[in-house]
Amino acid sequence: MKKNLLMWDQTLFKEIQVFDIDYIPEQFEYRDEQIQELAYAIRPALAGGHIFNTVCRGIPGTGKTTSVKKLFGEVIEITKKIVPIHINCQIDSSKYAIFSRIYTQLTKNSQPPTGTSFKMLFDMIAKYIKNEEITPIICLDDANYLVYEKELNKILYTLLRSHETYKHVRIGVIVIISDPDIDLELSLDARVASVFRPQTIHFAPYTAQEISGILSQRVMQGLYPNVLAADLLDRIIDRTMKCGDIRIGLNLIKRSVMNAEKTARMNVTNDDVTQALSISHDLRLTELVNILSTDETNVLFQLAAMTTNVDVITTKSVHTALGEKAIGYTRYVQIIEKLDHLRLVTLTYQNVGLGRTRIISLRYDPKQILSLQKPKATKK
Ligand SMILES: Nc1ncnc2c1ncn2[C@@H]1O[C@H](COP(=O)(O)OP(=O)(O)O)[C@@H](O)[C@H]1O
Ligand SMILES: [Mg+2]
Repeated sequence: MKKNLLMWDQTLFKEIQVFDIDYIPEQFEYRDEQIQELAYAIRPALAGGHIFNTVCRGIPGTGKTTSVKKLFGEVIEITKKIVPIHINCQIDSSKYAIFSRIYTQLTKNSQPPTGTSFKMLFDMIAKYIKNEEITPIICLDDANYLVYEKELNKILYTLLRSHETYKHVRIGVIVIISDPDIDLELSLDARVASVFRPQTIHFAPYTAQEISGILSQRVMQGLYPNVLAADLLDRIIDRTMKCGDIRIGLNLIKRSVMNAEKTARMNVTNDDVTQALSISHDLRLTELVNILSTDETNVLFQLAAMTTNVDVITTKSVHTALGEKAIGYTRYVQIIEKLDHLRLVTLTYQNVGLGRTRIISLRYDPKQILSLQKPKATKK
């Protein structure tokens, strides 16, 4: 009976979307403490007070986004006066983009008309907040991207000091940072630091037992019984443990099962998992390359092309080799520093003669990077 059902559906997935990265699970354990702290930070706003500005820190795949979204869901259920707004700073990474997103989400309108200046946009937002008598809580998710773009200070400044210009406007802020290398105190200007005194909530990487619990639960929910044997799931759990990122585990399960489906098998084999494991480390790379601008990918691809045949590469030689794709040198330096932040490249100095030369090297296999040159084709 089950077999027929599977043949009929042509699928081993009961609910494939539970393996998506942005899926919000019903069952969300191991983060009670963090959600409680978040709730505690937001609670004063329910009584007309200020929220405690908050920073959530933890490497990718430790449940930060889901925790905030779960809590935001509850806020929406109990009050109309607090309006939570979640912003993905990987997508909206400039001040203007972020405030248009705030405007759109607040007013449920379409985008602000083209040509709207920042000042007009902010006036429109302030007016709306005043008329509706609401307190927005803005979550800047993966705000590390704003640090790389040097936008975070400007955005926090505008958000946190808005009540100085607009009396009735109070905005609460939750900042999520998933890059452990960022020192927030160093990244913030004094004038921002003086108004942004956040409490920090830590999201430690999940333990082996927690990873096992989360992935097993997802397998039960998303796959038909006996599709993925326990020892194969253990291999995936092991791999997930090594990077601490639960998304890698979810993706490995999905890929392994899709490998089995491709050859119309009813369950996953060891080879299916091996094959999925061999491409999983590309995941972060693909994600990063997808968010880069054309200028930035040009630099990266140029470096990759040079890495195949030269050992030591100076930053200057990459700039020269860009030829007609070259950008101004100052902008070029910003780009290589961003690539360094994203841990795509390493920058070091070497003494040459009397001067010092900056050396740039790739952190990934150049062939792997060059294979992403048509990024749209690699998107699923
Ligand atoms: N405690 C948990 N229980 C169930 N699923 C979880 C848990 N933590 C994370 N996940 C899942 O892992 C994925 C990544 O979580 P996410 O909240 O996006 O992490 P982060 O924002 O820290 O990168 C999501 O699909 C989420 O549903
Ligand atoms: Mg996240």
